[in-house]
Amino acid sequence: MSALDVVIVGGGMITCDLLLPSVYHLQRTGYVGKIKICALDSPPLKTLKNNKEISEAFPGQDFEAFPPVSEPVTNKYPELYKEVIAGMKPRQLVIVAMPDQFHYTVVMEALANQHVLCVKPLVLKYEQSVEIEKLAYEKGLFVGIEYHKRFDRRSLIAKRSYELQQFGEFVMGEAKLIEPYLYRSSNFQNWFTCDKTDPFVYIGCHYVDLVYFITGLKPVEVSVSGIKGRFPNGNEGYMWANGRIRFENNALLSVIDGLGYPDEAAGSNDQSLLLFFEGDKKTGMVKHEDHYRGVEHSYLEGIGCGGSHFNYVSPDFYKLVPWEGEGYKPVGYGFESVSASVTMAYMIENEAKGLSVADSLKKRQEMIKNTDKKGIIATPANSFINELVVEAARLSILNDGEIVTIEYNPTPGVKLRSKK
Ligand SMILES: NC(=O)c1ccc[n+]([C@@H]2O[C@H](COP(=O)([O-])OP(=O)(O)OC[C@H]3O[C@@H](n4cnc5c(N)ncnc54)[C@H](O)[C@@H]3O)[C@@H](O)[C@H]2O)c1
Repeated sequence: MSALDVVIVGGGMITCDLLLPSVYHLQRTGYVGKIKICALDSPPLKTLKNNKEISEAFPGQDFEAFPPVSEPVTNKYPELYKEVIAGMKPRQLVIVAMPDQFHYTVVMEALANQHVLCVKPLVLKYEQSVEIEKLAYEKGLFVGIEYHKRFDRRSLIAKRSYELQQFGEFVMGEAKLIEPYLYRSSNFQNWFTCDKTDPFVYIGCHYVDLVYFITGLKPVEVSVSGIKGRFPNGNEGYMWANGRIRFENNALLSVIDGLGYPDEAAGSNDQSLLLFFEGDKKTGMVKHEDHYRGVEHSYLEGIGCGGSHFNYVSPDFYKLVPWEGEGYKPVGYGFESVSASVTMAYMIENEAKGLSVADSLKKRQEMIKNTDKKGIIATPANSFINELVVEAARLSILNDGEIVTIEYNPTPGVKLRSKK
């Protein structure tokens, strides 16, 4: 079995908090070979290399930095990822972890001959997701999208129960995901501007995907209103968003999102999902408290998110814990989600190994179709509703919350209702 070399494009928060530790663990368990990380400039790469928590967890493991960390901090390399990807052996893995608006260009670049794992949202336009799906399938390249909430056990349990008709039919729900206030002073202030994205597109999409994942119902109408504010550097962004989604059976989901969970609070964010279902002369319900999972820590020093002492700790998303090997290992659905896509690309390559060119392509295409059909790992084919929702949400929020409809026939697309 051959390990896959990995190039991560983007060295920011998600790379530090989830992707790199997950990939390091998969390296020591034999799924991943060499690791390279490419960022716009050297500072985030230096931060990653100097991260104490990561080096204590993965002693002796390292990545190659592009540009090298010795490069002057002001030098920018917006196109360097192209060279790094071009230098890879065929059919390894590119992980796309840069701001949303660049995903399309980088994924298409990687699909020259590499498998891909992209952080959510895959792209901001439905047409682009179709293009990616088609190109990847033609070439027998796997594309996974990192919707990690699908791997939370509570989501998988709810999905199974819904399929077994233990709840009834989804009718009304509400979800929230409020990220910490401190995000406003991070690199977000450089790209999280009103014209590019908003809290609904950034995090609300997780819960819309989850309702689709659990119920299989497609969204048909989206309305999102936003509240603007200024980042410390003066850029204007939507700090809060309130969305309402109607599904194909008329069910409604409201979603609130923001960059505003108090830094001093125990969070480290606030998130939950509440769904009601209609049954035969009775109703069903799913209630997930996703921030408070029954674990509270109070530290001597302010080491919690935002410098807090008292924290709700989630053992379920991502944590580094002792294991039988050296250092620490990542556990939780964040790790499991990254691992599912990395190991899928690994299995696809290893199953196709030694086959003729034609048989290898056939085998890889067959495995891609099976993954699409299974619907656990998000792929362009089984999660395209997210691109439609994101596209509709952007149109709605930029038009003061006007309703945007999503049509599926004859070809999927979005439309402002007032322009019907
Ligand atoms: N819950 C989730 O699934 C989740 C959580 C956080 C972020 N994300 C997604 O991850 C992506 C990145 O978010 P983040 O929080 O890490 O952002 P960030 O702002 O912290 O980091 C962005 C990184 O992209 C790099 N970059 C920008 N332009 C580049 C270029 N031309 N070439 C190479 N690198 C370039 C920057 O150097 C930086 O390291 C976003 O799409 C976001 O939506 C997903």
